[in-house]
Amino acid sequence: MDYLTIAVAKGRIANITIKKLEKNVFNFSDFKNSRKLIFEDDNSKIKIILVKADDVPIYVEYGAADIGIVGKDTLLETDSDVYEILDLGYGKCKFALASLKDFEHKKGKKLRVATKYPKVAKDYFNNKNEPVEILKLNGSVELAPIAGISDVIVDIVETGTTLKENGLEIIEEICSISARLIANKVSYKIKSDKIYEIVDYFRRQMNENDICK
Ligand code: PRP
Repeated sequence: MDYLTIAVAKGRIANITIKKLEKNVFNFSDFKNSRKLIFEDDNSKIKIILVKADDVPIYVEYGAADIGIVGKDTLLETDSDVYEILDLGYGKCKFALASLKDFEHKKGKKLRVATKYPKVAKDYFNNKNEPVEILKLNGSVELAPIAGISDVIVDIVETGTTLKENGLEIIEEICSISARLIANKVSYKIKSDKIYEIVDYFRRQMNENDICK
């Protein structure tokens, strides 16, 4: 039988995903403290490949992985031709518009927005019919208003600690984010049984969690 290959976003999402998969039938015991990027479970015929979050949709779209697990933030920022089949309910956070506490938007002045997510920011302000200048940064976005290179930021907020400790506050919440299961369009047809075994596995875990609450 063919392996089902799952591309998983490295970091927090991968740590949670492997824990969830290991709960019952899957065995990826060599995951901890390893720099390996490929993990195989011979019994369940599942192969995990660890890739950067931004690359998960690419691996899935081009068929190097049958399915992928990645945050909705990444999916909103990339235009990938994949199916989004399940909200996994973990890796929860949100997109928000934020500024320094004392920031005042002067009427008629075009806002400069710093963000790691230019597409999300552009879509958000387009929906409001508000022309803005978008400044793409690669991290530590909260620093931009402090350093005076932007008026506001569009960024991910999880606990809110980074905003708070840098004197920023949320102006508006844009949307909620969580980990999503995506599928390659061909794999979805030819490996649907195996894909739905995984989907059901995650669904059962979500229901178990609900009972515990
Ligand atoms: C993310 C995000 C915020 C922070 C939010 O950054 O861009 O900066 O986490 O988390 P919090 O609300 O729990 O404080 P990340 O850790 O990915 O680092 P980066 O700023 O270098 O991108």
